[in-house]
Amino acid sequence: MYLRSISLRHFRNYHEQRVEFHAPKTILVGNNAQGKSNLLESVAFLATLSSPRVSGDRDFVHNGEEMAQIDGELDRLSGRSELQAILRRSGRRTIRANGETCRRQTDFLGTLNAVEFSCIDIDLVRGAPDYRRRWIDSLIIQLEPIYVYILREYGRILKQRNAALKQLKHDASHAIADTLPALDYQLATAGTKVIRRRRRALDRLAPLARHWHHAIGGEAENLMIAYRSQLDPDDVSDPASRQTQRDQPTDTDDPQAIQHVFLNRLRQNRSAERARGSTLIGPHRDDIELMIDDRPARHFGSQGQQRTLVLATKLAELQAIETVVGEPPLLLLDDVLAELDLTRQNHLLDVIEDRFQTLITTTHLNAFDAQWLDRSQILTVDRGSIIADSPTTLHMYATPEFPSS
Ligand SMILES: Nc1ncnc2c1ncn2[C@@H]1O[C@H](COP(=O)(O)OP(=O)(O)OP(=O)(O)O)[C@@H](O)[C@H]1O
Ligand SMILES: [Mg+2]
Repeated sequence: MYLRSISLRHFRNYHEQRVEFHAPKTILVGNNAQGKSNLLESVAFLATLSSPRVSGDRDFVHNGEEMAQIDGELDRLSGRSELQAILRRSGRRTIRANGETCRRQTDFLGTLNAVEFSCIDIDLVRGAPDYRRRWIDSLIIQLEPIYVYILREYGRILKQRNAALKQLKHDASHAIADTLPALDYQLATAGTKVIRRRRRALDRLAPLARHWHHAIGGEAENLMIAYRSQLDPDDVSDPASRQTQRDQPTDTDDPQAIQHVFLNRLRQNRSAERARGSTLIGPHRDDIELMIDDRPARHFGSQGQQRTLVLATKLAELQAIETVVGEPPLLLLDDVLAELDLTRQNHLLDVIEDRFQTLITTTHLNAFDAQWLDRSQILTVDRGSIIADSPTTLHMYATPEFPSS
């Protein structure tokens, strides 16, 4: 797929800005705080309808304005698509695909696919479980947009159940306690859907990431990525888990088996949950384990090893999306390329060739391999304005080999 243009209106530090992309690779160069990441964020937003950088839609809207707008024109093998998102301070959103207002997010999601790689992705290795859960969830949304509703449903039930548990701490009446079995059942049903999809996505990703990890690291290290649920039998940190080992669905994808264990664990944890006033097990507490040669990458990986691991994971994401969607997604590289040594830069270059349209931000062009620079469109970002490099340089850039309609 190929993003032809993006237009921003009162988005972050932009007022009115249109950018046309002329080459498979675009490098956005500028000093700190000029709007480079903001531009990538607007593109990523059209892919996921969310951003890890905001707490609410108001953050997107230029200070002093009421609404922000993002318009993207995209070419896919199936033809041209126009995507529009209007974001308001109030939080009310309007999303349109080809001029039609989308009532459901699933009518919008899945049109533009993108993989973003920024310096915060090192949190895949070093960060809290919450970061890894959000990472896998946003990948699944791109692979299978319906997952948005599955997640939302789980979140809704979890909130309801937590409210009931909290109430029970102060008021142990039967009326509230009697609602718990039904909530357990709903939580286990919705949670099972989340767990199965996360496991499936990781099963798809893990062999691809292992391949890239070998290729980039050039060593015989083995990368393992696995979903770690508190419903797993090897969660020995929890005595309740050990008690129920015979019950556990080890490698199974059987929804009934997962749901069965889920319900059992909820019952076993009843008194602890009532004491805490919140739900202690479920996919909202699960994690993704990244291991190098059977050791947690977080504890044993050197910085370089951790970076290689994250790069391998991102390349795996690109491939997984390409396989499922049938077209190469966009790659958004926010400030990471200059961090990679030339060998790794070149690995990346070999993989993406000109097949993956790539937007790259950087503060300095001199950190780049000449190969990249010669064949890229270079744009300068300066205080919320984007200026194309001089036409004399521009005409040298390769023209895109993408479908034109
Ligand atoms: N809603 C908003 N309204 C106005 N300005 C905003 C808004 N949100 C962010 N900004 C401004 O955008 C700028 C940051 O932009 P961005 O993160 O894109 O910088 P950058 O060019 O990527 O910089 P760096 O090289 O440091 O990563 C900051 O100056 C910030 O104040
Ligand atoms: Mg930035």
